[in-house]
Amino acid sequence: MSKIDPRELRRSLGTFATGVTIITTIDVTGEPRGFTANSFTSVSLDPPLVLVCIAKEAGSLDAFETAQSYAVNILSEKQRDLSTLFASRGENRYADVNWTKKSTGSPILNGTAAWLDCTMEQTIDAGDHIILMGKVVAHEHNAEPILGYCRGAYVSLGLAQQAMEIAEQDSRVRVGGIIEIDGQLLFKRVGNQLQLPGASRVGTVDEPRSLIGELHLNGINFKPGSLYSVYDDGSTHVIYYRGEGIIQSAPTGDYCLQSIQKIDVTSFSDKAVASMLGRYIEESHADVFGIYVGNHKNGAVHASK
Ligand SMILES: Cc1cc2nc3c(=O)[nH]c(=O)nc-3n(C[C@H](O)[C@H](O)[C@H](O)COP(=O)(O)O)c2cc1C
Repeated sequence: MSKIDPRELRRSLGTFATGVTIITTIDVTGEPRGFTANSFTSVSLDPPLVLVCIAKEAGSLDAFETAQSYAVNILSEKQRDLSTLFASRGENRYADVNWTKKSTGSPILNGTAAWLDCTMEQTIDAGDHIILMGKVVAHEHNAEPILGYCRGAYVSLGLAQQAMEIAEQDSRVRVGGIIEIDGQLLFKRVGNQLQLPGASRVGTVDEPRSLIGELHLNGINFKPGSLYSVYDDGSTHVIYYRGEGIIQSAPTGDYCLQSIQKIDVTSFSDKAVASMLGRYIEESHADVFGIYVGNHKNGAVHASK
């Protein structure tokens, strides 16, 4: 049997779509603690058991290993920033967060889609993680749309659907690709400018004027992964997908690759593209991608709409 590559394993596991939670507790000094987790799962209805896995390298491991209780806060789609905050190192995560105590005293965050207040049933050593098994003692849910997560990105089925409908119904559409190949992005040279690859439709390898078809003619195999940006530039609906490309040899002709760290976003005359690339570079550090919805001037990075 060949050795399992953890990076590749992470990618396979990442295809399993989940919600996003923030797991909270109060540590021995009385301070609220918490971390973003998507390893949460239900275990049993009677008795009501749930579990979440915490990495042994997590800064809050001690607090959770010794805790008598914890709460599972299931995030709504408006709470993407909160997810990012509780997944980043250090800082006082609770500085601007409103929360209350219910049964156990573990922090219940405001604005979630649901919460579960749990007593600690058991901690189980499991490889590089510890499983925190909790017994639900109180819970609540509402109709807020939830924040989803899949393939390393916050996802929105609603938004993806909306983009597909626009692409099918409207002729004023430009479809582009942010295509990553071995840590580099693919660009097309137009005059002395670089542009992201684009066409009027996604298409197939058999349609030379489509995005996939033109790239195929240039020896590049691209399968659009997640939706990355949807905006209206005043005359055209612009839809960008991000995904990985496969290439046989170094690109020739109009296409070239640039290392993500070396991209100079100020050299792009299209300000919407410059800003989108800036966001991509930033998000690729954390390996967590959002979706931008708006026009070429104003909009917001969403998990969903
Ligand atoms: C969507 C998402 C899901 C995550 N799921 C988990 C998880 O299930 N378990 C875990 O230990 N870390 C998970 N993390 C990483 C932690 O949130 C991150 O390492 C955090 O900084 C840990 O905080 P701490 O070091 O202060 O404990 C996840 C991060 C993101 C963005």
